[in-house]
Amino acid sequence: MTTANQSIKPVTAKINQDEHIEIGGCDLVSLAEKYGTPLYVFDEETIRTIARQYKTAFSSYPKISMLYASKAFMTKAIVRILDEEGFGFDMVSGGEIYTAHTAGADMKKCLFNGNNKSYDELQMAVELGVGLISVDNFLELALLNNVAKSNNKTIDILLRVTPGIECHTHEYIQTGHLDSKFGFDLTQVDEAIELILEQYDNLNLVGLHAHIGSQIFETSVYYDEVEVLLKEISRIKEKFNIELTHINLGGGLGIKYVEEDCPPSINEIADKIITSVKENAAKYGVQEPEIHIEPGRSIIGTSGVTLYTVGSSKQVPKGKKYVAVDGGMADNPRPSLYQALYTAEVANRPNDKATETVTIAGRFCESGDILIHNAKMPELNEGDILCFYNTGAYGYSMSSNYNRVLKPAAVLVNNSQSDIIIDKESYEHLVSLDRIPDRLKKQL
Ligand code: LLP
Repeated sequence: MTTANQSIKPVTAKINQDEHIEIGGCDLVSLAEKYGTPLYVFDEETIRTIARQYKTAFSSYPKISMLYASKAFMTKAIVRILDEEGFGFDMVSGGEIYTAHTAGADMKKCLFNGNNKSYDELQMAVELGVGLISVDNFLELALLNNVAKSNNKTIDILLRVTPGIECHTHEYIQTGHLDSKFGFDLTQVDEAIELILEQYDNLNLVGLHAHIGSQIFETSVYYDEVEVLLKEISRIKEKFNIELTHINLGGGLGIKYVEEDCPPSINEIADKIITSVKENAAKYGVQEPEIHIEPGRSIIGTSGVTLYTVGSSKQVPKGKKYVAVDGGMADNPRPSLYQALYTAEVANRPNDKATETVTIAGRFCESGDILIHNAKMPELNEGDILCFYNTGAYGYSMSSNYNRVLKPAAVLVNNSQSDIIIDKESYEHLVSLDRIPDRLKKQL
């Protein structure tokens, strides 16, 4: 069975009777008219479908917890949907904790993670009752123990470790290899445990946490990751006579951005993980642990598309043809940052045959602001609406106000209804945090 991460388009995408692309029962051309472009559009049914596919895929394993990696895209509405689906949240900042809390997430199901959490953020996590904290380094062990003590609490923690597994993804989004800024090296785990057992009375170590990378297409790396963690748990049991009960495997499952991408299904990943847990728990003589997973991209990526309006074009004599759209690297930095590939279609005439190869350029003042190189498209005219698929993950969440361009709105579509989930910025918002020192104020 295929799962929704294996398709370029959201599950509800189709061509309607006006020969326009429609998602969630909403005509994309009408959405562009109503809300303006650029516009992020999120399909609720795709999010819920994938969330349920995750739950079904792991349903044979009794002790499983799903946390959504908020960094992929977090707003209060997304928290509501995934909270309803039974997910907790993997959070990496005070901002993500605040969003989860104010949107009514079940904080006991949440995890606070990150390589340089501040005292204030740890304090906030402890006060708001975040269920687990993944401790990344020695400084944080001491800080968190102080915070826990001053709140009169004992905090359940995981130790974030680097399992030494390399996967074939972009270097910037690999995290599990040995030379990484994240987590304890396996050779430092004993020292951390000694400190917890001997000095840090307000910390209760329950398990290990790792994340091996993002946009992963191999399933074997998950088998290996589980093995490394269970072997380590067995070693810890032997040496310290404590048995850790949780493993958190991070996120990473890939999605299909372009035809050539062949990510595995959620079921294939789940089967690999469960098989590895059973085989390696037996092999290393430890109990089968509670498994936590933290998918981000594969939950939200496929549900999101971005709409742009085509503006100017330029044919370089004897060179390329550039077609510019009204957004670019500020609403989607992934092409310029990671050479990420995307698929685009013309929302107002998706049936037109591709007749030319063009470079789709953004509007920002940098030559590198190119969204797609060598896109095969029908001849594009000013006013055409382009639909970029798979922009749901790490698009809005990494967006900026570069060139002081306003961040676009995001709408959620479902059953032919569209609702704003993030307002478009206004020029007033844009300058709202600016301050002019008195001595520079213009005398009127
Ligand atoms: N858990 C941990 C500890 C992580 O560091 C990450 C992602 C995830 C879970 C979620 O991984 P996912 O399922 O989304 O692959 N900005 C990059 C991706 C950076 C991912 C960082 N960590 C991009 O746009 O490709």
